Amino acid sequence: MKIRTIRAASSASAIAGAGAVFLSLLAGWEWAAVPAVAVVVYFAAAHVMRRYVIFRIKPMYQILRSRDSKSGEIAEEYRGRDVVTEVEGELQAWAERNTLEIARLRENEQYRKEFVGNVSHELKTPLCSIQGYILTLLDGGLEDPDINRKYLEQTEKNIERLIHIVRDLEDISRLEAGTLELRRERFDLLALVDEIMQSLEMQAAERGIVLVSDAGPLDRLMVDADRARVGQVLINLLSNSIKYGKEGGRTRVRYVDMFEKVMVEVQDNGIGLTAEQLPRIFERFYRVDKSRSRAAGGTGLGLAIVKHILEAHKETITVRSTPDVGTTFSFTLAKA
Ligand SMILES: Nc1ncnc2c1ncn2[C@@H]1O[C@H](COP(=O)(O)OP(=O)(O)OP(=O)(O)O)[C@@H](O)[C@H]1O
Ligand SMILES: [Mg+2]
Repeated sequence: MKIRTIRAASSASAIAGAGAVFLSLLAGWEWAAVPAVAVVVYFAAAHVMRRYVIFRIKPMYQILRSRDSKSGEIAEEYRGRDVVTEVEGELQAWAERNTLEIARLRENEQYRKEFVGNVSHELKTPLCSIQGYILTLLDGGLEDPDINRKYLEQTEKNIERLIHIVRDLEDISRLEAGTLELRRERFDLLALVDEIMQSLEMQAAERGIVLVSDAGPLDRLMVDADRARVGQVLINLLSNSIKYGKEGGRTRVRYVDMFEKVMVEVQDNGIGLTAEQLPRIFERFYRVDKSRSRAAGGTGLGLAIVKHILEAHKETITVRSTPDVGTTFSFTLAKA
């Protein structure tokens, strides 16, 4: 009901009430009493309603009107949008971000634990051997010329092994942290392969394995890379081919021209790897046959280092292998 109408009604009823009272005074109480009372009751009711509307409903109505205009703006902003799905999507993204972060932290923690466990295990083996030999020498072996020489030689071998492990660990931690600086230079890859093959000649001869560098008509192959690090890659691939090659076998290095790059292939006819073993061989500390590898002086860090060195050069390495037929590692280098 409009406030103005209520106000008019209450004024009209006040005039009518006053008129009725005046009439009753003129014509006598009996005749005018009933309408006069009715008019007075109506007047009183209208007055009460007016006051109620003015003091209670009007402010509430005004508040609601002002809210209505705000909610109108809000409604306009969200018109045509599925707000519930949007909020759900945001929540989902937030949860995924945090889940990934937690998974990454867990993985790092797991990696750290595994790394420390593997390192201590690898160091423990030669250290225990060294301790055993020294204790035997102290127990009287020192006086026996046959024993003392042999045990000292074994001790020296194990110390060499410790140095090798520590050097590999230093390399892998620097490579994984990305702090290893490459010293790129232009050098002849064929000369480097020959140099390394010569240094491994004795090792290869022990197992009757022949090392061949097959460069075809080329007498030089210039590449742009860190010579010492590429040397490390070749040493590991070639010594693996000797360690895991068959007695009397052969390892061949081939070079495939790929325009701006050269692909180097190290191929052996050794024990090979199964489809399950193949994807794991670049993992740190992974060895197919732990006892055989360790007996051959392996820690399982060689191929992990090889992969990191090539990645630092922005190059790649792949492997294909057939059990009992042989293994071929292929990696690229930039030609210079
Ligand atoms: N040419 C290969 N033929 C067959 N198996 C291989 C060959 N090269 C590597 N492997 C397998 O992959 C494993 C990992 O090789 P990787 O060079 O990383 O370690 P390693 O030779 O055992 O030790 P390290 O190189 O640290 O002295 C080896 O233990 C071996 O089982
Ligand atoms: Mg190796």
